[in-house]
Amino acid sequence: MTILHLRRARTSLVLDARGPGLPRVVHWGGDVGDLDDDGLRQLTDATVPPVVPSSFDEPTVLSVLPEASAGWSGRPGLAGHRDGAGWSTAFRLDGLDVDQSAADEPARVAVRASDPAAGLTVTIEITLDPYGLLTVRHRLRNDGDSAYELRELTPVLPVPAVATELLDLTGRWCRERSPQRHPWQHGAWVREGRHGRTGHDATLLLVAGTTGFGFGHGEVWAVHTAWSGDHVTFAERRPTGESTLGGGELLAPGEVRLGPGESYKTPLLYAVWSDAGLDGLSDVLHTHLRARPGHPRSPRPVTLNVWEAVYFDHDLDRLRALADRAAEIGVERFVLDDGWFRGRRDDTAGLGDWYVDEGVWPDGLQPLIEHVTGQGLQFGLWVEPEMVNPDSDVFRAHPDWVLASPGRLPPAWRHQQVLDLGRPEAYDYVLERLDTLLTDHPGIRYLKWDQNRDLTEAGHHGRPGVHGQTLAVYRLFDELRNRHPGVEIESCSSGGARVDLAILARTDRVWASDCNDALERLSIQRWTGLLLPPELIGTHVGPERSHTTNRVHDLGFRAATALFGHHGIEWDIASISAAEQTELAAWVALHKRLRPLLHAGRVVRVDHPDPAVWAHGVVDHDNTRAVYAVARLTTSVTQVPGAVRLPGLDPGRRYRVRQVSGVPAPASIDLSPPTWLAGGLTLSGAALARVGVQLPALHPEQSLVLEVDAVD
Ligand code: DGJ
Repeated sequence: MTILHLRRARTSLVLDARGPGLPRVVHWGGDVGDLDDDGLRQLTDATVPPVVPSSFDEPTVLSVLPEASAGWSGRPGLAGHRDGAGWSTAFRLDGLDVDQSAADEPARVAVRASDPAAGLTVTIEITLDPYGLLTVRHRLRNDGDSAYELRELTPVLPVPAVATELLDLTGRWCRERSPQRHPWQHGAWVREGRHGRTGHDATLLLVAGTTGFGFGHGEVWAVHTAWSGDHVTFAERRPTGESTLGGGELLAPGEVRLGPGESYKTPLLYAVWSDAGLDGLSDVLHTHLRARPGHPRSPRPVTLNVWEAVYFDHDLDRLRALADRAAEIGVERFVLDDGWFRGRRDDTAGLGDWYVDEGVWPDGLQPLIEHVTGQGLQFGLWVEPEMVNPDSDVFRAHPDWVLASPGRLPPAWRHQQVLDLGRPEAYDYVLERLDTLLTDHPGIRYLKWDQNRDLTEAGHHGRPGVHGQTLAVYRLFDELRNRHPGVEIESCSSGGARVDLAILARTDRVWASDCNDALERLSIQRWTGLLLPPELIGTHVGPERSHTTNRVHDLGFRAATALFGHHGIEWDIASISAAEQTELAAWVALHKRLRPLLHAGRVVRVDHPDPAVWAHGVVDHDNTRAVYAVARLTTSVTQVPGAVRLPGLDPGRRYRVRQVSGVPAPASIDLSPPTWLAGGLTLSGAALARVGVQLPALHPEQSLVLEVDAVD
């Protein structure tokens, strides 16, 4: 065997596969250059820890599947047993399959190893894509002749001691992806999600970085666990000197019992390194996502979702009027939300009965679909396929089709329960209903796929059911997409409770939050954007008074916030004034003009010293164009906040900076605004990044949008 060096973009992964056991991770991080065999040997030697008193007589080998037999006393990579035996492993290397021939293709290595005494075989699949994104997955096979009970199998990656701080995200309904940050101390920082779905509080990205890292500076390492069921993401720092990041599925007792010959594969652990701060991480992740064959490539249609306009009050004439107004404003997709199916007059009944309600829609959905498409808009429909209300025909006919423990139902949540899609008959029913709906209505080109409750005590035939349910849900998405390849799907889950890269492998965008309050949205979108590029994040202009916070915002602030994503509207636009309609149409036109840049460029977020001032932007890949927004969140202690730096441009080129035209300017307290604002200014990328521009002293909850174009 050998020492492997996987190199892509500016990232290196070095694995010492010379030993008889699993390869040691010598280095994951910045590129270490073009090393020959001797260079790799010396690098490997340089990283072997010394043997110290009161410790093992051999240095610990930290592999991506750490084992006690290799001297690891941290969180085990594998936990499981065979009726009390086989609880610890000493995998021996059987072979390596390496493919890193073409530099513009991912470098791949598959490590094959087995432990005959434990009766287990493992394959560790590692991929480093051309942009520097690493993925790791383990596959475990039970080669024994009895059942092996798996408790946990989690890939980990080592991080050097220079990483001293941790950042991850938490949240709740209407406040998704709230950052939390602290020093990285000894012990394990373990983020567990036991919601049976990704969760409002999911960590999204767990980042370890050098002291004080920010959006534009610092060396950072991060992982994402791509799984939409129960999962764990963790950072562990050992007094013995090792630091690791890892993540995988959380399994309930007895949930995965591998029979002889059966296998289990972990979710993909995504891992990314950058020496350019959080924006550097996002750049690698966004580039990776945009390169996927299935990434949405057509212009993202400006969307009207009628939820906050009509809620459950479906009336054909009113909805037609909304569609007419939407067309006038420049909307390109109309989404009929919850309330169209049998018995669904409010959220207490109907889920599961996926038939158009004959009372509300005597002529079916077709008249509305035809009206919408006749206006040149695409038609989309809300569904919540995994759920059932006990007050529904399907539940009355099949009360056993619910994930539950024997003899009791899980506590109700929004009056609903979860259909057990691990039961073939329940799965087939839902698939048939959705398939028929799409087949009968070829005008439906978009599904807003919602999922509004946690999976609680989710039993399947008396055993834990979240693992099987998660796989069944993926199958359902895949099968429907297969049958209806032209239909796009949005991942919604009580707002943003299902945002992860496994669901995004089968959907076209996420709904970031049910909160359309622009002030809250600035934060929700900023942090969702850590993982996802703007075109995958639904961002809508809500009503003047937010339905979820009661805050009131100018249209300009709402629209400037919603500009930087997959733009849309969630507002009763049939009842807005003529002036509001004109202004909204101007913002929609601005979004469409900027859309090619917003949905393909590099995202930058500004590390501004005044916490009341947030700035972010998107720069195109050849550094010829950019758009930035500067938002004032609150008043500042400082009367005039400092100049705002505009990073990310080519330092050697000169740029024209001006306030976007066609939309009203935000309100400020200035008696005389900065002189340059009237006519714009021209500065080098270096000056814009290092000096910045002095902006008006905006009132709180106002945003200024700047357009930047190279002049040479
Ligand atoms: C929760 C979603 O997040 C909302 O946007 C809306 O679709 C409702 N469900 C409908 O019940």
